Amino acid sequence: MGESTFDTGHFIAQAKRDLTAGAATDKYFRETRDVLCRAVEKIVSLQARTAAVVPELSYQAIARNSVSEQDIRTIRQRGCVIVRQVYQRQQAEDWNAELGEYLKINRYHERSSEKGSSDDYFGDLKDAKPQIFGVYWSRPQVLARQAESMAATKRFLNRLWNTEAPAGPEFDPDQDYAYADRTRRRAPGDTTLGLSPHVDAGSYERWVDPAFQKIYAPIFKGQLEHYDPWRAAYRTQTREFASPAVCSMFRTFQGWTALTEQGPGDGTLELLPIANAISYVLLRALQSDVPETELCLATPGRALGVDAQWHPDLAPAMSPIQSVAPGDTVWWHPDVVHSVGNEHRGNDYANVIYIGASPACTKNKAYAYKQAMAFISGASAPDFAAENFEEDFKNRATIDDLTTLGRQQMAL
Ligand SMILES: [Fe+2]
Repeated sequence: MGESTFDTGHFIAQAKRDLTAGAATDKYFRETRDVLCRAVEKIVSLQARTAAVVPELSYQAIARNSVSEQDIRTIRQRGCVIVRQVYQRQQAEDWNAELGEYLKINRYHERSSEKGSSDDYFGDLKDAKPQIFGVYWSRPQVLARQAESMAATKRFLNRLWNTEAPAGPEFDPDQDYAYADRTRRRAPGDTTLGLSPHVDAGSYERWVDPAFQKIYAPIFKGQLEHYDPWRAAYRTQTREFASPAVCSMFRTFQGWTALTEQGPGDGTLELLPIANAISYVLLRALQSDVPETELCLATPGRALGVDAQWHPDLAPAMSPIQSVAPGDTVWWHPDVVHSVGNEHRGNDYANVIYIGASPACTKNKAYAYKQAMAFISGASAPDFAAENFEEDFKNRATIDDLTTLGRQQMAL
């Protein structure tokens, strides 16, 4: 897809008029900013004491149902969590080797440079594209998605949300669909492939879309204390501008599984570990110095950028995740600001498989059916650029590789 030609200006201007009518938007922003500045200070001071800013759990604690209330409170505040050893280290290392072999025997590099890539989701962010591979159906990806330990982890994460909604539960936390995403294999020494801070799952939609307006109503009314990032109501009813690499499933958490060791300095994930920081971004765009047809960095079909010019108070809390080992998983709320470090200064590849949590609901079921067709033919997953590299790849996973759980997750 080329440059977006969809003119959102008048939708934005209308939404701004609606959201600010009778509202003390300047005052709301000042108050929200004060709350966020205190939260940022807390994270900065934790970092200074080199304390872990991303809460951590062992998979065993989830399997034994022994996660403490304190841990759950911290995860809810920070909007992110590392779950260690969802897979055994050896398993993840074997998958890493197999995935590398899959790309190699199928000449991924040569083919992708022949075909070119049509994925420009990150086109406007300052930094260039990371080393992300458009494959969805390798055996390691399919087997990791359908693992029982992954399903248990996703149930735990989905249940952190309050699913009550006016028309009945917003989703079923105990059933999760697979969301086939790509894989990152970042070479040591790479200096060009970071991603600047952003939020996925909607850019200008967060102000304009009626469901998002309901979700964020307390923020727009200056009542941050009444805003609960974990209230699921309306979250599955948002409508996103269709674009390659904008997720059309609702995810309770974005996430990935580490296939190699990686941590600070390795060109990997950085998080703004504050679950309600989106409130600052939302209200900042409604201030009078932002043109009436604009929302700071929001552009249709692109990640929503968060930067030092518009959001200077948030930047100090951007934190590299703690080091993770093969088999560990990292998760973050769909409103959480994240980035990928500009420079990989480590000595080994920083490789991950993207696996998020996408529970059963009408929206996700509709996507799962389309996705199942792509799986069978080896096409790219429907949300992504239709590169279809894998249609004739050797050793691609097939329906015979799916367990009963795997079939359910794939709506097959
Ligand atoms: Fe992202």
